[in-house]
Amino acid sequence: MKLITIIGARPQFIKAATVSRIIAATDGIEEIIVHTGQHYDANMSEIFFEELNIPKPKYNLEVGSGQHGAQTGAMLIKIEEVLLKEKPDAVLIYGDTNSTLAGAFAAVKLHIPIAHVEAGLRSFNRRMPEEINRIAADSISDILFAPTQTAINNLKNEGLEKQTVYSGDVMYDSVLYYKKMILANQEHYKTNIPNSPYFLATIHRAENTDNPENLKKIFAAFGKTDKPILLPIHPRTKKIITDKFELPSNVSIINPVGYLEMLSLVIHSDKVLTDSGGLQKEAFFLDKPCITMREETEWVETLENGWNCIAGADTEKILAGINTPDPVIERGNHFGDGKAAEKIVALIKEKYK
Ligand code: UD1
Ligand code: UDP
Repeated sequence: MKLITIIGARPQFIKAATVSRIIAATDGIEEIIVHTGQHYDANMSEIFFEELNIPKPKYNLEVGSGQHGAQTGAMLIKIEEVLLKEKPDAVLIYGDTNSTLAGAFAAVKLHIPIAHVEAGLRSFNRRMPEEINRIAADSISDILFAPTQTAINNLKNEGLEKQTVYSGDVMYDSVLYYKKMILANQEHYKTNIPNSPYFLATIHRAENTDNPENLKKIFAAFGKTDKPILLPIHPRTKKIITDKFELPSNVSIINPVGYLEMLSLVIHSDKVLTDSGGLQKEAFFLDKPCITMREETEWVETLENGWNCIAGADTEKILAGINTPDPVIERGNHFGDGKAAEKIVALIKEKYK
């Protein structure tokens, strides 16, 4: 069978790395990767293809940045051309970005079945572009690979249970797989690790970057902590803070790092402060308490026993999270058995052979 994988943003490269590795080891599936070009800086794109051995995209649509409509529309036009030319048996999409939505819309209009990895996540906040992307993509996909029981429940509530399959989370597979490699090669990922105990932070969500007041409140909290804060900076955030912000002296900004270095930075940190979806889970998988600088999370399982807390962009809540003693009860396992990718690939092969 011929499978077209459509990816374009950093977290999708990371998820696809794990699934594509299993596809490559499976007879009978030809995978063609289409990169929309949503993320294009070397440290937001190429680095992941190189270090995670993701097969080189046959097509790079080089769509680049833009308003939601313009960006998604440009992707739609170009993905449709590829699908008409390649005539795949199925299309594989990941997560909730504009690349996900464009891939789904292009495929469904050509009657090509869609498999959606990381289906069923909901924040119930329709102001988030990702929430719209997910709801739309889930409603037109043929197989919905749900990473958690909560995702299954959400899909059921929307009448989508027939298409839903519990897979577990491919990001959990990834952490289990790469953690061993990182621990065996720790010297390699040491460059950016501070000399004293530190917190690891990331910020890129629209609700924080597009609202200077929120960013100020977040940095006010950072400035009141007694530990260094290491912040690998998303290009979206970098654009804003270089112009307008005086950073607290304990915050060190570095360029975005590769996935393996990022996991190593989580492993060595004391806590994680983030508005990222993926990083909340990585903190959880690697036993690090997380403070989520959003008003809600899709990954509600991580909140159990205090491993994650919701602080929004509220200075006091962020500080309270930082000052809360580490959880004493071990975290549960809600994200599968580390074989989500195997399940996903086996079902795709079986269904579209
Ligand atoms: C996108 C996803 C978000 C995901 C995030 C992962 C959507 C709507 N949002 O958000 O769900 O969490 O990716 O990182 O799809 N930029 C660069 N270089 C790049 C990429 C982006 O400079 O390689 C800058 C551009 O100024 C661009 C801005 O970052 O306008 C935002 O990029 P975009 O892909 O639109 O959204 P993200 O915030 O990255
Ligand atoms: N990540 C990375 N380098 C960085 C920052 C993040 O490799 O400098 C990884 C992180 O470990 C996680 C993924 O990128 O696997 C999360 O992507 P992001 O936060 O951009 O998007 P989200 O998960 O919020 O959609």
